[in-house]
Formats: sequence, structure tokens, C-alpha cells
Amino acid sequence: MPFVCAHNTSYVNYGEANESRGIRGTLARIHGTTLRGVANGAEDPGQVISALEDLRRSDIDWRNGRAFSLTYLATPEALELSERAYAMYAGENALNVAAFPSLRRMQSEVLGFVSELCHAPSGAAGFMTSGGTESLLMVSYAAKQRRPEVARPNIVLPTSAHAAFEKACAYFGIESRRVPVRADWRADAAAMRDAIDDSTVLMVASAPQYPQGVVDPIAELGDIALSRGVPLHVDSCIGGMVLAFLEPFAGGTVPFDFRIEGVTSISVDLHKYGYAAKGSGVIVYRSRELRDKQVFVTDNWLGGMYGSSGVLGTKSGGPIASSWAMINHFGREGYAKLAALTRATTLLLVDAITAIDPLFVMTKPDSTLICFGSADPAVPAHAVADALAARGWWVDRQSPPPMLHMTVSAHHDKVVDDFVAALRASVADVRASNATDGSSGAYGTVE
Ligand SMILES: Cc1ncc(COP(=O)(O)O)c(C=O)c1O
Repeated sequence: MPFVCAHNTSYVNYGEANESRGIRGTLARIHGTTLRGVANGAEDPGQVISALEDLRRSDIDWRNGRAFSLTYLATPEALELSERAYAMYAGENALNVAAFPSLRRMQSEVLGFVSELCHAPSGAAGFMTSGGTESLLMVSYAAKQRRPEVARPNIVLPTSAHAAFEKACAYFGIESRRVPVRADWRADAAAMRDAIDDSTVLMVASAPQYPQGVVDPIAELGDIALSRGVPLHVDSCIGGMVLAFLEPFAGGTVPFDFRIEGVTSISVDLHKYGYAAKGSGVIVYRSRELRDKQVFVTDNWLGGMYGSSGVLGTKSGGPIASSWAMINHFGREGYAKLAALTRATTLLLVDAITAIDPLFVMTKPDSTLICFGSADPAVPAHAVADALAARGWWVDRQSPPPMLHMTVSAHHDKVVDDFVAALRASVADVRASNATDGSSGAYGTVE
């Protein structure tokens, strides 16, 4: 029997034809729950919530540490606080903070906290965004706006830099000039220098990059950026709230932030290792002049002056309140403890993975991301991910080459033994099954 959706009956056919695929397949599978009533608008709040609880049962159990991707968990108390703060502000709108001065104040305090963490100089300025992708879109847009005379602008970036830069280049008509990384997966500074030309509007480095979890040679890239007069963005979306507390980065032995003169902007997400609800990132520029290039203002319509700092118009206060709550809950000291715990868990997991034949870790991580694979074609890495998923564990799949990826959270210290046992059992399952490849999955889906 097909699921009946009041608004879009094409779901019915798609669900029937693709029973096991993605969200639509899931909708088809849950036919028979109270969802039909929800779609018809006839359920009371209690029934709606219980329908949501039913829906959620098919999701990965990240609240109990079963996901090493997509989600971040510090403590159950912090999660509850974050969700309460979000709920309090879910309907407030940061599109116009004149109406919501509390949001203006929270945004400014969150920005101040992150700016201090990344050693922003006086005169630095920034904005909150909806997360990493919006930050990278906006920094790319600002770089293009800064050089209006360039007909065919390009961004020079390592092959490891986040996919959101491709999106930025596609949206804003910029050439993405990808430069192969070194054998240790870090950006090749000399090759990036050679790729720069008069139309280069931005260079990019990551701290760390997502795929292999290593930090690029940012000091070297900063020197090149200064000598060529090109802005350098450090994408620390996934690392900023961790590296700021971990040696050799925190003390400046291996600097990655504004302590490097050539760095002109840094992005740090609160909805990752800030443990805030989804929809929260920060971008900090070395100067207000650089920041102002990302701003959009128009009065070319009948509704009055429209000023906006990013892609969004209406912007929920939820992520802002959640970020503010997390920063006030943990503070520098709390985040330092979380970073130390998460790093220790990461290193434990690296040792445990390495001890399971035929798994190997691609490189020693600089932060809290692990990239690992299989040295035996009879145990394909992606088939191991399938076997883990069958046991209720979620790791990311990536390529090239086909590898697995884990984003470790503070809460994962509670599940190390269970995960390692599941991983060992999954390898045995794959060996026994004669799997040839496994499902390659996707980093992001289009549904
Ligand atoms: C280094 C890096 N940059 C950018 C992003 C994109 O962030 P978001 O998914 O919040 O848009 C990610 C996501 O993991 C990331 O790891």
C-alpha cells in the first residue's frame, strides 16, 4: 500500500519503485503509522509528536554515540541545554536585529568568543552564518567583489579543500583551480604558488582538511599570500573549536590562525565542535573593510532598504541562541577539556583500528578526524561500512581512494570498546560474505 501524501502524490510512485532508497524509501516503509493523519491535519499535538518519534526510530542513534559523521555530541546535559535554547528562539528572526536586540547581543558575544580563540587582531570583524557552506560561499563572494576589475576570477586551493568551494565557484562564476596535495595529504605550497596568476582572488588552506584530517602548511601559504598580495582564507570550520586547545597548534608552535600575517579570514563552525544545534557558523575577517565585501544591500524594490550579511534572508534565532548557550555553558575551560578528551579518544581509536587486520589508518590525524581503509581487496572498505551500518553504526565513506572516515566527538569515549568490537565483527562478516565492493554512499545527498 502506498504512503499517501496530501501535497505530492509523486512520492507514492517513487516510494513504490524505490522501496529502499533514501528519505522517500523510508516514507514508503513507514506507511501505516499516524503519518497519514498528520498529512491530513487531524492529529492533536501528542499524536504528532509520537509520529515524529516513530519516524526518528529509523535514523542512526547518534544521541547514544553511534554516528561518527554528521553529528556532534559532548554530553547529554549540553545537548538538552542546546535544544532548549534553540526552542526558545526558534521563531525569532535575525533578519532584523533591531526588533530582536537579544539576538544582536548574542551574535556579537559569539563572534567575540570565536575571534579571541583565533587571535583576531583589533579591527577584525565578522558575521555569524548558517554553517560551513555558507561561510565558504560568502568568503568566495567577498573575494570576487574585492576585485571587480578581474574578468575571470579564480580561487587557488588544494584538492583536499571542502566541496563547498566548488559550490561557491559554480554559484558566483569563479574558476576553481585545484592543486594536488603532497604525499602526506597536506597542501603543496610551492605548487599553489605556481598556480597563482593575476586573476587569483583567493587562496585557501584548511585546519584541518576534512578527508584525511591534516592541517595544511598555513605559515608557508601565508608567506606566499603576502608576497603575491592575495587574500588567504583558513577553513577551520571543523577544527577551529578543537585546534585552539590542542598542541602544537594552541600555543603557536604550529600556528594556523591570525597569528600568521598572511591569513585574511577564518571560518569556524559552532554546529560542529562548538556542540551547538545545526545552522551555526562564524566567519572572521582581519579587517572590517574585507568583511564588508560580503554584505549585500539593495533598495531596488517596493519594500524598502534590504541589507543582508549572507545567503539567508529570514534567519532563525535558534542556532544563535544554541551557540550562545554552549559558549556560556562550556567556556574556554570546558572546550579545552572536551578537545583533550576527544583527541585522546581519537588516538585510542587509531590504535584499535590499526590492530585489526587488514585495516590501516591513512595518516596520523592532526585533530579528531580519522581516515582509514583496508589493505585487502577481499575486505573492501565500503563493504565494512555496510556491515557496520547493519550493526547500527555510521561511519562516512569517501573516495578517491575508497576509504572510511570518522568524526570523533567528546561523547565517543563512552563507546570506544563497543565500536571496536563492532568493527572487528564487521570485518569478519565481510570476509565471510565474499563482498566485492560495498556501497560507496555519498558525503551529501540530493533528496
Ligand atoms: C573543513 C570543512 N569545511 C566546510 C565544511 C562544510 O560545513 P557545513 O556542512 O556546515 O556546511 C565542512 C563540513 O564537514 C568541513 O569539514
